[in-house]
Amino acid sequence: MDDLKSKYLAEIAGAADEAALESIRLTAVGKKGEISLKMRELGKMSPEERQVAGPRLNALKDEINSALAARKASLADAALEERLRTEWLDVSLPTRPVRQGTLHPVSQVTEEVTAIFAEMGFSVAEGPRIDTDWYNFDALNIPGHHPARAEMDTFYMRRAEGDNRPPHVLRTHTSPVQIRSMEKLGAPLRIICPGGVYRADYDQTHTPMFHQVEGLAVDRDISMANLKWVLEEFFAAFFEVEGVKTRFRASHFPFTEPSAEVDIQCSWVDGQLKVGEGDGWLEVLGSGMVHPKVLQAGGIDPDQWQGFAFGMGIDRIAMLKYGIPDLRAFFDSDLRWLRHYGFASLDVPTLRGGLSR
Ligand code: DAH
Repeated sequence: MDDLKSKYLAEIAGAADEAALESIRLTAVGKKGEISLKMRELGKMSPEERQVAGPRLNALKDEINSALAARKASLADAALEERLRTEWLDVSLPTRPVRQGTLHPVSQVTEEVTAIFAEMGFSVAEGPRIDTDWYNFDALNIPGHHPARAEMDTFYMRRAEGDNRPPHVLRTHTSPVQIRSMEKLGAPLRIICPGGVYRADYDQTHTPMFHQVEGLAVDRDISMANLKWVLEEFFAAFFEVEGVKTRFRASHFPFTEPSAEVDIQCSWVDGQLKVGEGDGWLEVLGSGMVHPKVLQAGGIDPDQWQGFAFGMGIDRIAMLKYGIPDLRAFFDSDLRWLRHYGFASLDVPTLRGGLSR
């Protein structure tokens, strides 16, 4: 038994890996292992012999099992040591240069517009891009027969066979969010709503999907003067100039009365547009005092409250500010264009930190 013991302990100590250990285990204490066979022979012994041999065999088996376990643990430790030695990383090494994505000018300008209006107490509202014709038209005082419906080149959604309700539309402007905001917030309120809108139109300055920002302020005695001040503040901040003169031209929108189209002062020098100087004018938005029927549709009493509203093209003011000539390129996903006109993703526009750099 002493021979067996020293033989196996030596083998275990010399085992190079787990597979070797396992085969030693099988030969020694496995079901048909040498020691297990010896244990079977106990049955043929006399009781006296068995009393001596039994405990010794059991002790030998225990000893071999614990030597196996100990060797297994030390092999695992050694393997871990080896991995730690070979798989280390120098985390202080500089990284490889990574090609970063950029922010699309529409995203950038949306952030800029939001930062400026937030400063003036406007919060951001949102509405669905697929809307009912009630929100997109009727509630905005554009009834079924109104010519404005035809002018808008609306995309209508198909209803299921046999469903005779009016079709949903892809919203043609952000104005329906006026109604949703009035319903949700009541008066007084001050919101802007930037977002995508859709019209069936396509040329150098029109794409079937584009972006607008709607503005709405409702209070007890809001006037056109407030509208003019807010817009002039906005343009000066947005174009990052001292001041911008505006020109209000009488116009017509079903949802405002009176209505005005607003131009901003600009000059063209050597084909370069400069906002806030010169004696040229550039049309930038539609606006007016919210029509009493629109307030009513939004659940607000027009005898108690009044408000101004405006709608402006985000893509258009982005083209003006950043000198981008063709609107269609905005939505082509051409990487060269995106790298050229894109903005660093971590430069969040703020009024104090600077809108664009
Ligand atoms: N919804 C109009 C359009 O898409 C723009 C507009 C004009 C919005 C006057 C307004 C407004 O809020 O008062 O052409």
